[in-house]
Amino acid sequence: MLILGIETSCDETGVAIYHSEKGLLGHKLYSQIKLHAKYGGVVPELASRDHINYIIPLIQDLLKDCKINIQNIEAIAYTSGPGLSGALLVGSSVAESLACALGIRSIPIHHLEGHLLAPMLEEKKPKFPFIALLVSGGHSQLIHVKELGRYEIIGDTLDDAAGEAFDKTAQLLGLGYPGGASLSKLAEKGKKRYDLPRPLLHSNGLDFSFSGLKTAVLYLVKKQANLTEEIKADIAYAFQESITDVLVKKTIQALKQEGLKRVIISGGVGANTALRKKIIAECEQNEFAYYFPDLSFCTDNGAMIALAGALRLNIPYKENYSFSVKPRWKLTEI
Ligand code: KG4
Ligand code: ZN
Repeated sequence: MLILGIETSCDETGVAIYHSEKGLLGHKLYSQIKLHAKYGGVVPELASRDHINYIIPLIQDLLKDCKINIQNIEAIAYTSGPGLSGALLVGSSVAESLACALGIRSIPIHHLEGHLLAPMLEEKKPKFPFIALLVSGGHSQLIHVKELGRYEIIGDTLDDAAGEAFDKTAQLLGLGYPGGASLSKLAEKGKKRYDLPRPLLHSNGLDFSFSGLKTAVLYLVKKQANLTEEIKADIAYAFQESITDVLVKKTIQALKQEGLKRVIISGGVGANTALRKKIIAECEQNEFAYYFPDLSFCTDNGAMIALAGALRLNIPYKENYSFSVKPRWKLTEI
């Protein structure tokens, strides 16, 4: 079956076509980063308006590139939560009205389920069950993924999400928004000079807390008489070392606690090279199998939503093309 996937939960308009047997046929993404950068964060109203500007042309371009007529699309999957309500409404209304016009099935998808399943876009796919470290702008969670739709959150953030901590630290270093990728680049030039806290590293639980780490960076930055490029790089390095140490230690702890042998890393922070390297080293030492989505599918995209739709095709449904978005939808309430 041919599934069109639509993602508009935040500041990326993503569309993709997935074939249930052949896999991903194509995808397109329009990022609003430039639009929001000058405000230092996503402005919800601007995000919704920009999704409206781009969603239809993106779908048209995708169909053209894939040489597929819209009449051949057999189902439409779209993100219906969690996320910004106005942004979610754009994708949901386009998806539901297209599905209604074509007389085909529409499939509302949980955004985080999309991230959890994204590694299945790759050739080397994880089998259920597995542990997922989901680290994005809004989430830092360890999830026991039992099967499709059965997700147990075994670790969560008590305050800032990992991506949020990257973004806020990047802002302190004057790197702009969103800062995860640029902070990571800067850290590559840095060396060990500062020692920052590793919050909850030795706790027995699997929860995370990153706001103290961010505050420690703030004090370190304030202490500098002259915040040179070299010092900035060393602070970025220290921050990245701390946060990745905690994320990796808790992930390995989760695998052992749950008696599982497979792990996936997903979400925007999952694109972080230092995090990937440390997970690979630890997994190889402990003989755990590890899976990552392609870098382009770590951050928000339409492909993971189309894939989730393909996996949900067999679940019975009642079509009426009515919809409501769920800005605060919990993963355990699917
Ligand atoms: O998954 P995502 O696109 O959006 C949410 O669902 O939140 O994640 C975005 C987050 C941002 O905080 C961004 O700074 C972070 O992922 N990010 C990174 C990297 N690339 C993106 N953080 C660390 N290292 C990276 N290479
Ligand atoms: Zn996301």
